[in-house]
Amino acid sequence: MDCSARFRIRTPSPAASSHLAGESRRPVGRVSVRPMASAASVEEPTAAASETKRRPTGDSFIRRHLRSLAPYQPILPFEVLSARLGRKPEDIVKLDANENPYGPPPEVATALGNLKFPYVYPDPESRHLRAALAEDCGLESEYILAGCGADELIDLIMRLEFSISIIINDEDLLKILDLPILVVLDEAYIEFSSLQTRMSWVKKHDNLIVLRTFSKRAGLAGLRVGYGAFPLSIIEYLWRAKQPYNVSVAAEVSACAALQNPAYLENVKNLLLQERDRLFDLLKGIPFLKPFPSHSNFILCEVTSGKDAKKIKEDLAKMGVMIRHYDKKELKGYIRISVGKPEHTDALMKGLKALQL
Ligand SMILES: Cc1ncc(COP(=O)(O)O)c(C=O)c1O
Repeated sequence: MDCSARFRIRTPSPAASSHLAGESRRPVGRVSVRPMASAASVEEPTAAASETKRRPTGDSFIRRHLRSLAPYQPILPFEVLSARLGRKPEDIVKLDANENPYGPPPEVATALGNLKFPYVYPDPESRHLRAALAEDCGLESEYILAGCGADELIDLIMRLEFSISIIINDEDLLKILDLPILVVLDEAYIEFSSLQTRMSWVKKHDNLIVLRTFSKRAGLAGLRVGYGAFPLSIIEYLWRAKQPYNVSVAAEVSACAALQNPAYLENVKNLLLQERDRLFDLLKGIPFLKPFPSHSNFILCEVTSGKDAKKIKEDLAKMGVMIRHYDKKELKGYIRISVGKPEHTDALMKGLKALQL
């Protein structure tokens, strides 16, 4: 392991993004060494003073904004769910995390079975994958960075203290790109929409980043592979800030193998789109749900008629059907249902009808 690289603290040059409003103001590094909040202003504590000084608690090492951050509500892993619900994992209808239930093309299992050097660290530059993506997207590999899921790239971008925006139509996007801000366009679900990718726009717009993922499109959520297109003036700083071995050997091999079978990816996408239409129509028939049209592989529904979103989620879980509910301000009283296979929709509808009685 390259320890020297891991523990270096790097400071990007102020020129890094001088034309952008979201300029990085703090050092970006793999490890940030912070003084204890309680000791920061003390210069030379006397022996007596240090004796009476309280030992710091762990949270004094944590940045203030992180201390007040609401925790992410993670979904439960299959094995834990299975034990809790008393059902075999294969008997659980999992529509709570927008995964692709068809999984990856068969080439992925073959490639994983044939891994020759799993004991060797992965290529820090994910060269094979970036070359395959360059062919797939029609964008040169120098503009592309791969990550341990799109989530890692979002995290990297946030560490540079830029702002994030999500936009849909071309006209709005062009207007926003005219502003002196960095725009991060999340295309995690682009394959399920009728929109064209804007990855190649990064060549013309120095303030645009476009993120994509293999989680939805290729059914590889568990392998963790995402990628992004970046302007050359930004990508060089992400190369410096990222973990050296962020994309595992298994993840890179799997993503490359998935790209070898575009017909499979297209077929699975079409099956999910068909199912999305059927699910939408069926949900419209449920008197306590108001589904919203979707451009992704999930359908958001408002829970109406005095029913409780959390209770619906819990009752369905008892029947082995997992969906997601929201209890935060903006989406309180809403549920989100991932599009699954036809039999998943059938199980969901059976459960929802049982709740109507
Ligand atoms: C909008 C959006 N972006 C990014 C992600 C994360 O993608 P990945 O699995 O590649 O981290 C998700 C995951 O559900 C998502 O909904």
